[in-house]
Amino acid sequence: MLAMQAIFPFSLLMLQPATSLKLNVTAISARAGSSTLECWQMDQPFNTSSQPGTAGTAQAPLGSVSSLAYSILPSNFDGGIHNAPQNQWVVFLAGLAYITLPDDNTTSAYVTGGQFGLIFVADTKKISKRGHRTQYPGHHRDRCLADSDVGRPSP
Ligand SMILES: *[C@@H]1O[C@H](CO)[C@@H](O)[C@H](O)[C@H]1NC(C)=O
Ligand SMILES: *[C@@H]1O[C@H](CO)[C@@H](O)[C@H](O)[C@H]1NC(C)=O
Ligand SMILES: *[C@@H]1O[C@H](CO)[C@@H](O)[C@H](O)[C@H]1NC(C)=O
Repeated sequence: MLAMQAIFPFSLLMLQPATSLKLNVTAISARAGSSTLECWQMDQPFNTSSQPGTAGTAQAPLGSVSSLAYSILPSNFDGGIHNAPQNQWVVFLAGLAYITLPDDNTTSAYVTGGQFGLIFVADTKKISKRGHRTQYPGHHRDRCLADSDVGRPSP
């Protein structure tokens, strides 16, 4: 009986938000040829996984991925001003990234590696003349995963 009581409210908690909660991500996009920092909400809400191993838990679909790379960046690395090579998810696993915009000195973002380390980068050459700058001011080496050629979530 004790175990039943523990499990029942827990599964209610898992299933309720799964019907409507939507994932928000920091996105680097562009307007009028200049890169922007925006907060985007995914079109698809979290739904309930039916995959063995995570079945019954909340899952936000992120689309298909055609390739994936694991990068190790030295401390104080400066990625310079650059465009996204294509629409891509970047997941910072550790460390700290500092994103600035060459055409807008009023906006910047710190992204901490870990739980909140997911961003979407979409300021390709097609839509942004100069792109954005990413610096890594942390004392530790940064690690990130970047994929390429994914679909684009909606702003
Ligand atoms: C995303 O943002 C909306 C609006 O601020 C908020 O209601 C919602 O809970 C957020 N989603 C998550 C997963 O935190
Ligand atoms: C969850 O979303 C994905 C992607 O949209 C979809 O393929 C899958 O069928 C959905 N699962 C449920 C249980 O709705
Ligand atoms: C930010 O940009 C504006 C317009 O280009 C400029 O006037 C201002 O001095 C800049 N501020 C800083 C702190 O660089």
